[in-house]
Amino acid sequence: MNKNILLTGGAGYIGSHMAVELLNNNYNVIIVDNLINSDKSVLKNISRITNKSAKFYKIDICDDELETVFKENKIDAVIHFSALKAVGESIEKPELYYKNNIGGLENVLEMMEKYDCNDIVFSSSATVYGKPEYLPIDEQHSLSAINPYGETKIACEEILGALYQENNSYNIAILRYFNPIGAHSSGLIGENPQGLPNNLAPFVGKVAIGEVEKVSVFGDNYDTPDGTGIRDYIHIMDLISGHMQALKNINNLQCDSINLGTGKGYSVLEVIKAFETASGKKIPYEICPPRDGDVAQCYANCDFAKQKLNWQAKYGLDDMVSSHLNWIKK
Ligand SMILES: NC(=O)c1ccc[n+]([C@@H]2O[C@H](COP(=O)([O-])OP(=O)(O)OC[C@H]3O[C@@H](n4cnc5c(N)ncnc54)[C@H](O)[C@@H]3O)[C@@H](O)[C@H]2O)c1
Repeated sequence: MNKNILLTGGAGYIGSHMAVELLNNNYNVIIVDNLINSDKSVLKNISRITNKSAKFYKIDICDDELETVFKENKIDAVIHFSALKAVGESIEKPELYYKNNIGGLENVLEMMEKYDCNDIVFSSSATVYGKPEYLPIDEQHSLSAINPYGETKIACEEILGALYQENNSYNIAILRYFNPIGAHSSGLIGENPQGLPNNLAPFVGKVAIGEVEKVSVFGDNYDTPDGTGIRDYIHIMDLISGHMQALKNINNLQCDSINLGTGKGYSVLEVIKAFETASGKKIPYEICPPRDGDVAQCYANCDFAKQKLNWQAKYGLDDMVSSHLNWIKK
């Protein structure tokens, strides 16, 4: 029997790519999303790519209505993508973030317990490492939050850890993403933030297609070869294959936290250059003062993912950038 996988936040950037991969691998997909940061048209595009449909519920995971989903479907595993993720907004409205991200997970876990579902893959983030004390960052690195969004990810990891301590029949994978970028090769789904993007790649993409005038580069005096910040970017399809491996190996995971990155960092100027090469256009940028809380470099040690999930990223920056451009041009 095909397994039923619940994707909370499944209409979003990462969730929609996960839905495609699961449907292509003959899983049944149930998506719960309140569409606060996504659009219903994504569901049509998931079907266009796969010739299959995901079951969709427009529900807020914090609401009691979530129970309907568990009542109507025997959920075998949850991949919990749903969260608010804008760092700036989290500083302005911390309560909203605590309620949505921490309260949302608690409601999902309550339903899982009630309906006897033990498997969960959780979307965490490299933000839980705070300011890196050493590089590359492995999973033993200390955790500290530099904003309320990061606090919610650490709190959710703690909730899952405590749950596992209490009842080790749960199978839990905590995946700490570095910086996912790029899009599905069809160009039908990708990252589509509402308003001006917070993240570098979508922002540079908008400049590349002429929607925004120039890129703001925050700081060029960091201790890096070209002075701009270095991050570990990971192709969305690599990130998704990491989730597939986590799902397949979930019975061997003991609430492990696992980095998903490439292990290689690229500077802001290198990303801009890659967009110039892929688009054949000059990308104007201006140097602005560094932002509070930004760090010079952050990239992953991915040995544990290789050992635990038999997974490693295979795409490079050029693939990430060209797939993103393909998506936004369409
Ligand atoms: N994209 C990144 O750079 C990145 C990096 C690290 C971690 N993450 C984490 O990965 C997960 C997915 O991120 P994404 O980039 O796909 O974000 P996204 O905003 O595109 O997707 C999240 C989805 O969750 C939905 N959602 C939010 N709150 C909800 C609620 N209360 N009820 C129902 N649906 C709700 C949104 O409408 C959206 O469709 C998030 O948990 C995020 O924190 C993302």
